[in-house]
Amino acid sequence: MKNSKKVIAGIACVAMLSGIVSVFPASTEKVSAEEDVLFSADFEDGETDGISRRGEDETLTVVSDGAHGGDNALEISTRKESWNGPQIPLDDICEAGEQYIVTAFAKTEFYSQLTLSMQYTDSTGEPHYDNILKQDSKDGTWLEYTAKFSFPAGSTGRHLYFEASDANVKIYIDDIKITTTPDVEIEDLTSLRAYFADDFKVGTALTPSDLGSKGFMKLVDKHLSGSVTVGNEMKPDYVLNLKATQKYMEETGDDENPQVSFAQAAPVLEYAKKNNIPVRVHTLVWHSQTPEWFFKENYDPKGEYVSAEKMTKRMENYIKNFFTTLTELYPDVNFYACDVVNEAWLEDGTPRKPGHPDQSNGYGASDWVAVYGDNSFIDDAFTFARKYAPKGCKLYYNDYNEYMDKKKQIVEMAVRLKEKGVIDGIGMQSHLDARQSMDAAFPSVNMYEQAIKAYTETGLDVQITELDATVPENSGDQYFEHQAKYYKGIFDAICKYSDKISAVIFWGVTDDISWRASQLPLIFDNEYKAKPAFYSIIDGRTPGEVPSAPAQQPTDKPDVKPTDKPSDKPTEPAVSETPAATEKPSSTPSDDPQSTPNPQETVVYGDVDLDGSVDLTDLSKLSLYLIKDIKLEEKSLKNADVDGDGTVDIPDLATLKQYLSKIIDKLGPAK
Ligand code: GLA
Repeated sequence: MKNSKKVIAGIACVAMLSGIVSVFPASTEKVSAEEDVLFSADFEDGETDGISRRGEDETLTVVSDGAHGGDNALEISTRKESWNGPQIPLDDICEAGEQYIVTAFAKTEFYSQLTLSMQYTDSTGEPHYDNILKQDSKDGTWLEYTAKFSFPAGSTGRHLYFEASDANVKIYIDDIKITTTPDVEIEDLTSLRAYFADDFKVGTALTPSDLGSKGFMKLVDKHLSGSVTVGNEMKPDYVLNLKATQKYMEETGDDENPQVSFAQAAPVLEYAKKNNIPVRVHTLVWHSQTPEWFFKENYDPKGEYVSAEKMTKRMENYIKNFFTTLTELYPDVNFYACDVVNEAWLEDGTPRKPGHPDQSNGYGASDWVAVYGDNSFIDDAFTFARKYAPKGCKLYYNDYNEYMDKKKQIVEMAVRLKEKGVIDGIGMQSHLDARQSMDAAFPSVNMYEQAIKAYTETGLDVQITELDATVPENSGDQYFEHQAKYYKGIFDAICKYSDKISAVIFWGVTDDISWRASQLPLIFDNEYKAKPAFYSIIDGRTPGEVPSAPAQQPTDKPDVKPTDKPSDKPTEPAVSETPAATEKPSSTPSDDPQSTPNPQETVVYGDVDLDGSVDLTDLSKLSLYLIKDIKLEEKSLKNADVDGDGTVDIPDLATLKQYLSKIIDKLGPAK
């Protein structure tokens, strides 16, 4: 370590609209193999090695007292704020959308909470400050900070930094290293999807930060690419855009038209588009992860709740804007299912308590119930979703613990909505607890099967939307065989009803990247290996052919026809051990030797503002168009399609930025 010197790899920044990042501690084993060191700092030569200060008051001094390794460490003194501390500027080192591993040692002179964090600005200009790893620093002992991290595609101003809860303590850092994540091989197994090829789609949920992990994405591509759910970024608090909504209200005086943005979902939606993977839309109407301002007068979170009448108008416009924007941005993506309402019933079959979900009201409270007084918003939500959802997008009510008493209310509600022709199916989240034995498991396999039976008897489709099954915390692999048996029981129950179940979606891929990571709930382990649960699920089954790519379903028209049950199970997409490229459009002027280009129609790739040159103004116009701030006329749109794939979308922004940064020298379709 002491001999390693700074290796700064200048990696081009690829522009895409951003997604929120998630970070998680990395296991040290994964760091060892094939690491490519992009940055290191050990301060042995007396220099600050590319570290700068976050504020204006800090003093950075290389000191030789009590270093972690070798002779020197970096001391950060004269801090005035808790956020004051050392930072590593990473725009030239870490590419947005890629995953990296950082290892660093840090301490404070006396007790303080010492946090490794990351900062970036997303493509809409919002700054983000996310904690990566918080530890209590005491007794002047060096603490190790090893974590995987990734910045969302399209981000700029990327930094890692340390901050300490006490503004007065000195911070010390040493032996910092940033590496690429090693490219791991995954096991040579038959695709899980193949075993259920004749039954249902098999898929998973993904967040933008998952896309940068190579091993993880190999598992997704091979086993779970039948369907993708955007793990967080299509939820209301990511999609509803306060600034744009306020702007719209100021400009028009209309306070009933909430504006939306898919900037944060973009990386996962682009992945789905490139790989031709059908997408489950999750979720439109939910008590949780929904901004309080959405329900309040003047969009002021501290204001009064609006009337039910006004909320109904806001809900209709939100759902309309949601689908219109989505299908304009992604006309080629098959949005085959949508969770219209999520978790409206408590376990005992009563509606939620009114109020914003927070510490004082309880996290189960619902602003929807606060406005409407009851669950009557559900019917309107489905009516509007039916009106505006693209053709082929089936509509689901999705819930948790749906094998408990609330089963009765869900069935009653589903039957009523079915009679109105506004629902197609019921989503069973299926966050299950295998625990330590079949007796202790909750729900029991039988209880789970009874719920499937009840829901399929409504005549509606059923999807298993968020499957995971935990074992006890800190139990290592002790209960993996039992977990396998439980998973097998659950899958047998699902397969019994497979003619009425169109998708089984896992809520994650590997145990370490799960909302229940400490209870190891998934079918692949942290080292990308199949767990016993994987083998038990396929036991006794014969793999079929993973179906090939269907013709794209048009997504541009609402499907207003009521259906009893989604009639035919939507056909499967291309299975992509190697992702299939989306079709390129056939012609550009120069592609067709027969055509004599009419100068009026000549496409000047990149000239979005039609001023005859390609420059930063074009980039800014294209960004504004993509976040729905402006409209573009037809000729501008043709010029904006700089990758020539027939749609104007986020990759065009990335390509144009690369062109302006002189990373590529040509715009237009690949030949
Ligand atoms: C519920 C939601 C999901 C997700 C999980 C927890 O099941 O439907 O979107 O938030 O909780 O990760």
